[in-house]
Amino acid sequence: MKVQLIGLGNVSKSLIELLINENERLNSLGYPFKIVSVSDSKGTAFDANGLNLKEILKYKKEGWASFIKYKEGYMALQAIKDIESDLVVEMTQSTLSGEPGLSHIKAALSSRKHVVTPNKGPLVVSFKELMEMAKRNEVKLLYEATVAAHVPIFCLLSSCFIADEVVSVEGIFNATTNFIIGEIENGRSFKEALDQAIKAGWA
Ligand SMILES: NC(=O)c1ccc[n+]([C@@H]2O[C@H](COP(=O)([O-])OP(=O)(O)OC[C@H]3O[C@@H](n4cnc5c(N)ncnc54)[C@H](OP(=O)(O)O)[C@@H]3O)[C@@H](O)[C@H]2O)c1
Repeated sequence: MKVQLIGLGNVSKSLIELLINENERLNSLGYPFKIVSVSDSKGTAFDANGLNLKEILKYKKEGWASFIKYKEGYMALQAIKDIESDLVVEMTQSTLSGEPGLSHIKAALSSRKHVVTPNKGPLVVSFKELMEMAKRNEVKLLYEATVAAHVPIFCLLSSCFIADEVVSVEGIFNATTNFIIGEIENGRSFKEALDQAIKAGWA
């Protein structure tokens, strides 16, 4: 499977580390993958034969200047349209307008590429339109990571509980909120707890 990663922040870097560390296991499960492009806010690194993910983390940290596979100004939207792939993982920041993620997801779906995203913004703004677009193009739009981190909620509702009527759902479904409430309970102010969450990359 050829995969494009859009965004290279906290979530994306954690995903890349997982892909590096669990590469053997993923292959043994029958899910071989190649990351054919990675985009941040200024450009895109790409290689049709698959990028070296350790190199991506290194150059993102140290600067892209000496990495010939990175093209500054070659933006994610264009890369989604140009580069052959099966799956786009959209991991830009959540915004009230849904952008830039909304345009990225629309471009991927209309190019008949599956999409996986932890980005809440585009779904809040255009959930119905995006799901219809995915259906029309016969691809999947998966968004389990938007809430409750890796706790399986949406897939349970759409499979195991499909014939049930969900009466209510209770709990704290957001790691940032959970952390902040915990820190306030431990005597910190809201601002101290929020600053700590921002420092850790959760908020
Ligand atoms: N962090 C969490 O624990 C968590 C949990 C659940 C869901 N989420 C969601 O996951 C998403 C990513 O979160 P994050 O914490 O990784 O965010 P982040 O650290 O702010 O990273 C956002 C990334 O998007 C890139 N970006 C911005 N505009 C772009 C554009 N036009 N084209 C391509 N890339 C662009 C940024 O590029 P630069 O590097 O160049 O600035 C950055 O790498 C958000 O939507 C968030 O709500 C996060």
